[in-house]
Amino acid sequence: MIKTLELNTDNIQSFVTEQDLEGLQSEINRLHQDLESGQGKGAEFLGWLHLPSQTSQSHLKDIEKSAKWIRENCETFVSIGIGGSYLGAQAAIDFGSHTFLNQLPPTARGGPEILFAGQNISSDYLHDLLDILGDKQVCLNVISKSGTTTEPAIAFRLLKQIMEKKYSPEEMRKRIFVTTDPDKGALRQLAEEEGYRRFEIPANVGGRYSVLTPVGLLPVAAGGLDIREMVAGAVACEQHTSRHAALDQNPAYRYAAVRNLLLRKGKTLELMAAFHPALQTVVEWWRQLAGESEGKDGKGIFPATAEFTADLHSLGQWVQEGNRIIFETFLRMASSNHPIEIPKSPEDRDGLNYLAGRSLDEVNEKAWQGTAQAHLEGGVPNMTLTVKDRSAHTLGYLFYFFQRAIAMSGYLMGVNPFDQPGVEFYKRNMFQLLNKPGYGKEK
Ligand code: PA5
Repeated sequence: MIKTLELNTDNIQSFVTEQDLEGLQSEINRLHQDLESGQGKGAEFLGWLHLPSQTSQSHLKDIEKSAKWIRENCETFVSIGIGGSYLGAQAAIDFGSHTFLNQLPPTARGGPEILFAGQNISSDYLHDLLDILGDKQVCLNVISKSGTTTEPAIAFRLLKQIMEKKYSPEEMRKRIFVTTDPDKGALRQLAEEEGYRRFEIPANVGGRYSVLTPVGLLPVAAGGLDIREMVAGAVACEQHTSRHAALDQNPAYRYAAVRNLLLRKGKTLELMAAFHPALQTVVEWWRQLAGESEGKDGKGIFPATAEFTADLHSLGQWVQEGNRIIFETFLRMASSNHPIEIPKSPEDRDGLNYLAGRSLDEVNEKAWQGTAQAHLEGGVPNMTLTVKDRSAHTLGYLFYFFQRAIAMSGYLMGVNPFDQPGVEFYKRNMFQLLNKPGYGKEK
């Protein structure tokens, strides 16, 4: 029987041996203790570690109640946020929903179309977003832990003005949902003053580890996914990975250990390639998690992403024969929701009859196997993570798996995986250039 998640490391053996891995076990054991006992770096941001098992039924009920209202009363739901305040929700919705969710007729969708804003500073993006809101019934969920991030703040200001034209203050209070820090930030204050429905991000959970807080749960539930199942999946992974530190039992730590050993051998770039479009934004969520958690103090593996087989026709050449600083992790799905068979053609003019009667899943599987073998022969070690299905349970498991793995990976590199001081540099310069009060030339 296929497990919820399986890690296959066969294709790293000529680069990293079982003996190398065994050599790392005692360090992993020590770092596991640091994580579990809150003795490691950034321990004040370990709220995510046992969050799934501590999530109460009443908390979920509360989120589901708002999501139900949104699904019944909104044609368009705009989630406003950047970085950890939107990538997880987008990943979950893409993973669990119809591929063309927003194009489905509303009756088939059974809820609102889901749009994202606040993740860029583009006039045209916002213009076009406002354009399509038109006469639709709109709900907003503005998400910002700090409550001060410029990109979502600009988007919210513009979208709020649209709401003011459409709705009475009383109706706006029903339609605007704010997810922010429990105690501080401009957004928290604004929500309180305006009387918007507020959801809290625990102070000890950082943005990129927050997908299982209301940051992810509210938009995901508004999108119609089963958040109870998602949290249950995360609980299963939390329990397994907190109980077992051994590298032959804990796939999250094994993945972290392999990455670390490959890095020591000069493999400084990891290409995470999804073999299913529903996994594409999951790997983008992973890219932020890995990049912001590890890339500091002159350290880190550069996290790159690709969608295969599409990108085999764009990046494939580079991977096969380019600079050998790269390793790959393939993320694949064991089964599709709707398997399709390739039909037989009487004329066989396209020469595809050798595939007739076989499923697209089988062809995709062979593409993965062929790619993994070719890239290994080209000098690119690779691992494969296979998830069982597209269920919310599996997704929750996968989210937690990566959080645990990247936390361990950061600890193995000796960095604090829970801060992101480098992100402030562009902001400081931008504020200075924009003459933001307090950021004048004298600063
Ligand atoms: O992981 C992080 O902490 C960041 O990526 C944040 O999520 C991102 O910068 C957005 O921050 P905020 O939620 O405070 O607006």
